[in-house]
Amino acid sequence: MELLFRLVVLSSLVCHVCFAEPSVYQVGAGIADVTGPAADINMMGYANPAQLSAGIHTRQYSRAFIVDDGLQRVVFISVDCALMDQVIKTEVSRRLEAKYKGVYSAKNVVISGTHTHSGPGGYLQYVLFLVTSKGWVQQSFDALVQGIVQSVERAHDNMIPANIYYANDILIDANINRSPASYLNNPSWERAKYTYNTDKDMVQLKFVSTADGKPIGVINWYAVHCTSMNNTNPYISSDNKGYAGLLFEAEINGPDIMPGKGPFVAAFASTNLGDVSPNTMGAKCLDTGLPCDFVSSSCNNRTQLCIAFGPGKDMVESTKIIGDRQFQKAWNMYDVANTELEALEGPVQFAHQFVDMPNYNVEVQDPVNGPTMVKLCKPAMGYSFAAGTTDGPGAFDFTQGVTSPNDFWNLVGSALVEPSEEVKQCQSPKPVLLSTGEISWPYAWHPDIVETQILRIGQFLIAAVPGEFTTMAGRRLRDALNSEAINNGGPSSVKTVIAGLSNGYTHYITTFEEYQIQRYEGASTIYGPHTHSAYLDQYRKLTKSIFKNEAVDAGPTPPFLLDDQISLVPGVVFDRPAFERKFGDCLVQPYPFVRPNETVTATFVAGHPRNNLMLGNTFMTVEAKQSDNSWKVIRTDAHFDTFFFWERTSAVGQSEAHLRWIVPADTPEGEYRISHFGHYKNIDTSVVPYYGTSQSFSVGA
Ligand SMILES: *[C@@H]1O[C@H](CO)[C@@H](O)[C@H](O)[C@H]1NC(C)=O
Ligand SMILES: *[C@@H]1O[C@H](CO)[C@@H](O)[C@H](O)[C@H]1NC(C)=O
Ligand SMILES: *[C@@H]1O[C@H](CO)[C@@H](O)[C@H](O)[C@H]1NC(C)=O
Repeated sequence: MELLFRLVVLSSLVCHVCFAEPSVYQVGAGIADVTGPAADINMMGYANPAQLSAGIHTRQYSRAFIVDDGLQRVVFISVDCALMDQVIKTEVSRRLEAKYKGVYSAKNVVISGTHTHSGPGGYLQYVLFLVTSKGWVQQSFDALVQGIVQSVERAHDNMIPANIYYANDILIDANINRSPASYLNNPSWERAKYTYNTDKDMVQLKFVSTADGKPIGVINWYAVHCTSMNNTNPYISSDNKGYAGLLFEAEINGPDIMPGKGPFVAAFASTNLGDVSPNTMGAKCLDTGLPCDFVSSSCNNRTQLCIAFGPGKDMVESTKIIGDRQFQKAWNMYDVANTELEALEGPVQFAHQFVDMPNYNVEVQDPVNGPTMVKLCKPAMGYSFAAGTTDGPGAFDFTQGVTSPNDFWNLVGSALVEPSEEVKQCQSPKPVLLSTGEISWPYAWHPDIVETQILRIGQFLIAAVPGEFTTMAGRRLRDALNSEAINNGGPSSVKTVIAGLSNGYTHYITTFEEYQIQRYEGASTIYGPHTHSAYLDQYRKLTKSIFKNEAVDAGPTPPFLLDDQISLVPGVVFDRPAFERKFGDCLVQPYPFVRPNETVTATFVAGHPRNNLMLGNTFMTVEAKQSDNSWKVIRTDAHFDTFFFWERTSAVGQSEAHLRWIVPADTPEGEYRISHFGHYKNIDTSVVPYYGTSQSFSVGA
């Protein structure tokens, strides 16, 4: 007894910062493939109708984490996709509820998109989000729903007793503000509280088994857009955050475990990245090389010419650098003794409510009249929305029609109406381009009812928000929730992280002051100038309900529009090989000798990638010959140094797969080969697997 007492005293003397005893939670982590159709589908994010998928650079994954304190359970899921949508959240919740009755529901599950702009679209339930994808894409939806559910199932099956540790640090050189003119409109006293005009804070949770100290996973939050890959990229890519996750997972799981297969799961999740770009060299005019106009981010009045670049020489290198910087910092935060970190301690709780945003009433401080009640607006987009951003300028103006033929737009565009006086006044000073809240044909264009949700793990709060909060909007929300928690009996060590693009999508949320500038982010704050005030009010209410242990009502039910969707993207008709060729034939063999740092290429007769998405599988491998003459897979299409590119070579169903492997500097000398896997479709619609393997080549100095 006395010895134990002395040990406790001793250990509390040696720790630098002394925290309470870590709580033991039941924790599980799971990862599953959600990669969408790798050909012919519009990428979600830039709204560039010309950006169609044509291969894979890195796969998209869903990473799920379950935490249970013995009484309550929460699930946080980060998905490599542009944004989460109501229809996916609802469908995933339904399937989980059906399989695990009373365990999971929309209320305790958060699904957050990483915001990669290089994932196939067409999985969102409101009309506006489907314009550039030409409507609904069932395969994108199915891949996401199945994979997200699977990641939760895996996490569920892996649950073990664990401690959770919190760490935070600063990462300077991986983000910049892309709308500094808006940021500068925030009050100077408020800006003076911060060194930077973006959040440089990185926050990380580390999950460690209590039985053997083995790592289970990490969740990392850092504010930056996944727009390192630009709006000309045809490869599916999880962008900088996905790459950071792959690096971390490979570090723990080891190089022999292929991406997406290991037990350790590292999610790099989105947060208040609304005005935050990874293109750290900033924007310049493409024609003159001079800085863009500061307020409008245009050159000669043309936004298309003002584009941000860097830090790499091309977009792949930029993705690599920004991903690597996030990983390096995250690793530094992880690779320390757990006693140096702050353990999470206390109960698991959650609060959830649907809210009718256009009818939300909130008290704001009017400079003339003092406290005043205001009502939010029906959703609408402003003119600057069509202009896009310096990460990806608007490819077309909705009012001018699109630049390429688009049957979906021809169909739904006729429903556009002039904004009513009510909407114009409510949204002022936003000049309304699209009065989406006033159109309901063929079904709703934008959400009215949104999902608001907070998860609590001890002193840590995850505020899941349905959109992109800007830097200052996010700072105000975190501060407000930390104070609200403390004022209602929460621990003084409480800390809030914002989980961006969660559960549903409502574009941007700027501060009232930023809204006045009406750049892209303000133009995309859809419920009007007081949107942010309403969210502050709503998330305070949820926080209070958690710490007072008072239930909130469910709120109104959002529409579920799965059956209303219109799909105009044609499917695969049939495939056929070139004359006297078979599927899987290697048309161009790799060069027989390569050195490290060189690129191996091979071309195969291919079928259409949409015949089978190869989920949990791969369209390509690189194999190394072993001493017993067997072949061992060392690369799949999910690795960062491989590229699978698909090309249609004729109008009558012929196509080719171009495979690339950039041989790493540390590749052992030896024999290697590269293979392509796929499925082709016959005229009778039967789908048949095929594969082909190249001649071997040797890697040597
Ligand atoms: C840009 O547009 C504004 C407003 O339409 C106009 O006043 C200005 O002259 C234009 N500038 C250039 C360089 O064309
Ligand atoms: C995209 O990046 C590539 C380099 O990887 C560059 O050549 C191209 O100009 C960029 N395009 C845009 C629109 O940023
Ligand atoms: C490969 O590239 C790295 C980094 O650019 C360089 O340090 C290394 O010397 C190169 N190795 C060979 C064999 O060319």
